[in-house]
Amino acid sequence: MIQIAVLGYGIVGSGVVEVIERNNAEVSRRAGEEMHVKYILDLRDFPGDPYEEKVVHDYNLILEDAQISIVCEVMGGVGDAYQFTRQALEAGKSVCTSNKELVAKHGAELIALAAANGCHYMFEASVGGGIPIIRTINNAMTPERIEAVTGILNGTTNYMLTKMEQESADYEEVLKQAQALGYAERNPEADVEGHDACRKIAILSSLMAGKNVDSEKLYTEGIKGIAAADFAFAKEANMTIKLLARAKLMEDGSILAMVAPFMVPKDHVLAMVNDVFNGVFVTGNMLGDTMLYGHGAGKLPTASAVAADVIECARNQGRQILCIWEETEAKLVDVAESERKFFVRAKRDGGKAVEDVFAGSICLELAEYPNELGFITPVMKERELQAGCEALGDLILNKIRLM
Ligand code: HSE
Repeated sequence: MIQIAVLGYGIVGSGVVEVIERNNAEVSRRAGEEMHVKYILDLRDFPGDPYEEKVVHDYNLILEDAQISIVCEVMGGVGDAYQFTRQALEAGKSVCTSNKELVAKHGAELIALAAANGCHYMFEASVGGGIPIIRTINNAMTPERIEAVTGILNGTTNYMLTKMEQESADYEEVLKQAQALGYAERNPEADVEGHDACRKIAILSSLMAGKNVDSEKLYTEGIKGIAAADFAFAKEANMTIKLLARAKLMEDGSILAMVAPFMVPKDHVLAMVNDVFNGVFVTGNMLGDTMLYGHGAGKLPTASAVAADVIECARNQGRQILCIWEETEAKLVDVAESERKFFVRAKRDGGKAVEDVFAGSICLELAEYPNELGFITPVMKERELQAGCEALGDLILNKIRLM
């Protein structure tokens, strides 16, 4: 029998216990051995909970119990979660996590530590919740050179942008709706400023490059600047607006990665990923395009991904599960040098100055925004667009990249 400890009995932690115990026949059959949760570590007690007798408060009990071979770290954060993960791996216990912050910051180091101790560090649930994107990259797309990944990796902001489009609503209005529904945290900064998606694309980029991509070095722009007018112009151009997390593997092995709102053509599959759903569009050099779609967050989808890692650890006791993510830093491409088309919304009274800067652009006009003009520029470098916009100062109302 394989005995498991779950660190943190919050939403995901309680989901992990539920998946392993409620689906125990499937879990044990697929693991090839009976599996059970022996301990739940939390600071709190849970009187009346069906698993209350499993709750413990002392981590040493878990570390010193030789029957525990797999630990699920679903506490979050990079303090105790980091120390507990290191201690478990050093004791030869595999760790499965949903903690994207910790994986983005210390993934390479923890993978190496696990390998050195004959166990595994698994993190399927850290990106895209229940969508098996890590397993797809590591196990299914193994013959591929993965050239690009474009993802809608944050459900909260995708819900907000979907509502803005459908209800012609402004940012503040949909933020309140998202908070009322419990999607956005009371402090929604990590989601709306793009940091959550940034950590996730840093993890995927690291797997693409096989080297460490530091999330803190990636260009990250959130959705706070998106207005109802941007959606009106996007509609006119047969596009929508999505917060995309993108990574491209260049010929020399360097990575161009960023998080920002993009205008996406309405007929692209990513434009059809709405509400809280996530989608990841992966391009392999042999396979071509593949798209994964599903629940990017939530108790049971996230817990199911953690449990899938637990089963993989159980199946691979004494063997290595290959995950190529070295501690050396990947070379990053300067986003300012990247090229694409842009949408620019400007004040109409800018007259000739605006038209000169955006010569060669497609001009959009809307009756409901008579004082504004929209432009779709030709392909240009980010720094050229930036320079043009700076020259026009407050005549520029917004600029959004085109996918
Ligand atoms: N806040 C995240 C989201 C949770 O909205 O997608 C899942 O990582």
